[in-house]
Amino acid sequence: MRILVTGGAGYIGSHTCLELLNDGYEVVVIDNLSNSSIEAIKRVEKLTGKNIKFYENDILDTEALLKIFDIENIDAVIHFAGLKAVGESCMMPLQYFKVNVTGTINLLEVMEKYKVKNLVFSSSATVYGDPATVPIKEDFPLSATNPYGRTKLMIEDILRDLYRADKGWNIAILRYFNPIGAHESGEIGEDPNGIPNNLVPYIAKVAMGELKEINVFGDNYDTADGTGIRDFIHVVDLAIGHIKAIERLMKNSGLVTYNLGTGRGYSVLEIIQNYEKACNKKLPYVVVDRRPGDIAVSYADSSKAYEELGWKAVRGIDEMCRDSYNWQYKNPKGYSE
Ligand code: NAD
Ligand code: UFG
Repeated sequence: MRILVTGGAGYIGSHTCLELLNDGYEVVVIDNLSNSSIEAIKRVEKLTGKNIKFYENDILDTEALLKIFDIENIDAVIHFAGLKAVGESCMMPLQYFKVNVTGTINLLEVMEKYKVKNLVFSSSATVYGDPATVPIKEDFPLSATNPYGRTKLMIEDILRDLYRADKGWNIAILRYFNPIGAHESGEIGEDPNGIPNNLVPYIAKVAMGELKEINVFGDNYDTADGTGIRDFIHVVDLAIGHIKAIERLMKNSGLVTYNLGTGRGYSVLEIIQNYEKACNKKLPYVVVDRRPGDIAVSYADSSKAYEELGWKAVRGIDEMCRDSYNWQYKNPKGYSE
């Protein structure tokens, strides 16, 4: 089976390409490398001993998409390509709607034209807004608090409407909680541009001595230690979830939606403590103001994915921190070295 992976050079995409190749799938990638490096693709090829057919193109480029579907015999698409920084989305909303929403519509139109109607879509726990209770189940109310979240919600709505109109589609909407960590080889991992926005990539830079101290965004939340709680999930577990979703689509699943999380939350301070064990160093931090838009607690009920996909996250917080640090230690400048 041949899978088109949009955004396959990115953080989650590269880990998913690796699992796909190891499971015997053929992989075609389209990525404009706006937030990634071709080096990630090369390393996945090296780790698996298999080739990826790579197209350096934009999903907004319809001609390029048509060409790929014309040449390659695509059976299904895993759609990661898009912009993902919440803060940036507030500064440049049009760019986010264009790339995420218009880019997805472009892709869907070309898929429809070529009668490729199997799609796995990267959604996010952000579509639950500020949930009234935890753990979060798939049927909880949906809302968005920023343009990035709104793009995910809009795309989900488009996919639901598309499926209502044409039951020939098989669509898996995967709502990721907080992916962290890296492949255990330390060859591929997360390589954010500039100063990281997300907690664990930031901690990794402090552990390497590149940044001075961790800013803890608020310690007055209604949680045991006052800091925010999230459902951190190892990126390799997440990648495997995509294989399970593809398997399910191939049985004509229709439209399905799953939370991909571990079901357990860790606070910011707990993550710092676990990371200290992984890097065997004390990590300095200061408590600063809350970050606007952050919620106190988010963690998943992922039992639906277990029941219907046979998937559950098996890697614990020790492995997440160990693999994050191993990647950062081996690649202090990410892929650019
Ligand atoms: P990433 O930025 O590492 O990967 C996205 C990839 O898409 C990059 O390689 C980038 O170059 C590519 N891309 C961006 N715009 C493109 C365009 N117009 N045409 C072609 N390629 C383009 O991000 P990631 O963390 O791997 O996230 C993958 C997906 O998962 C995204 O859709 C993101 O919104 C979603 N997601 C991520 C998280 C997270 O915390 N990382 C959480 C929930 C959902
Ligand atoms: N945090 C800090 N200091 C930092 C960065 C984060 O204290 O330097 C805290 C945040 O306040 C939050 C927790 O660490 O309590 C996690 O923050 P992240 O930025 O790592 O992750 P978020 O939960 O805010 O958001 C991430 C992605 C979103 C996605 C969401 C759910 O950035 O795009 O996970 O998948 F929607």
